[in-house]
Amino acid sequence: INKIAVLTSGGDAPGMNAAIRAVVRSCSYYNLECVGVYRGYQGLIEGDFEDLTARSVRNIINKGGTFLKSSRSEEFKTEEGRAKAHEKLTDAGVDALVVIGGDGTFTGGLYFNREFDFPIVGIPATIDNDINGTDYTLGYDTALNTVVEAIDKIRDTASSHNRLFLIEVMGRDAGDIALNSGIGAGAEEILLPEEDQGIQRMMDSLEKSKKSGKTSSIIVVAEGEKSGKNIFQLAEFISQSHKEYDIRVSVLGHIQRGGSPSCFDRVLASKLGVGAVEALTDGKTNIMVGVHHQKVVHVPLETALKEDREFDQELRRVANITSV
Ligand code: F6P
Repeated sequence: INKIAVLTSGGDAPGMNAAIRAVVRSCSYYNLECVGVYRGYQGLIEGDFEDLTARSVRNIINKGGTFLKSSRSEEFKTEEGRAKAHEKLTDAGVDALVVIGGDGTFTGGLYFNREFDFPIVGIPATIDNDINGTDYTLGYDTALNTVVEAIDKIRDTASSHNRLFLIEVMGRDAGDIALNSGIGAGAEEILLPEEDQGIQRMMDSLEKSKKSGKTSSIIVVAEGEKSGKNIFQLAEFISQSHKEYDIRVSVLGHIQRGGSPSCFDRVLASKLGVGAVEALTDGKTNIMVGVHHQKVVHVPLETALKEDREFDQELRRVANITSV
């Protein structure tokens, strides 16, 4: 392998820049050429490339977002789109690709590898932490800290006014952000996409807190939770049977995806960036570099995409106990 291209795709995540930096610098270390692809797979199709050297990635380790920019390309989902991308890569003399992103990114990479036998290594980056085979994805730790900080601030108002706050956090299919930030911020109830508990448990828990003397409450709601009601309908539902609550809703939204990456995410990004280039120079392809028990591991892309991630029952138990 002589020339590696790197791109970021899907939702941006804090730590993507640090991962690009590590890929570029590893290429430099191993005397490989490196090409940055702008706007993810869409830029691959359009040949939006720029040669990157070790100095091109200075002063970005601390920046959120991705300087290569990102996209969710519809065209790359078609065979024609992928064929165009392959042509652009071969024209530019690129012989391997590092893709940084989440499940959509890995699915695209998998198709591309199958069709053209093109060496691909993925780096998991999404605030959702919903990738199988890695303990952490890039951006998740930063997002958790952002969410906890935001909930702490909301708590000040909740307790000053004896209010009930419903706070929506990101996570369409994975409750990792909700469960962990809920525990970290001391939420009284946490609604998750992985559990179809109805809203009865929330109502029971509100009833219990009233009896136990709680004067304010915080309920963390993952955007993909399964009650079938959106957060405003949930608030309405509670207010119908609990006139005593002064309820407010707060949707945290995209502030969760922004900001300077935590040290944890910067170190993880650096390990995975180096790991991705070394995997390619070792002849590996069609894998994700992830982290398990602090060590870099190689996981087949198919495994990374498996949806049956284990739900952390122990953490749910901890949440239940600590919110009595
Ligand atoms: O996958 C990351 C994520 O932030 C999800 O948590 C969220 O559901 C989604 O992306 C939002 O996507 P968009 O920024 O395209 O609205």
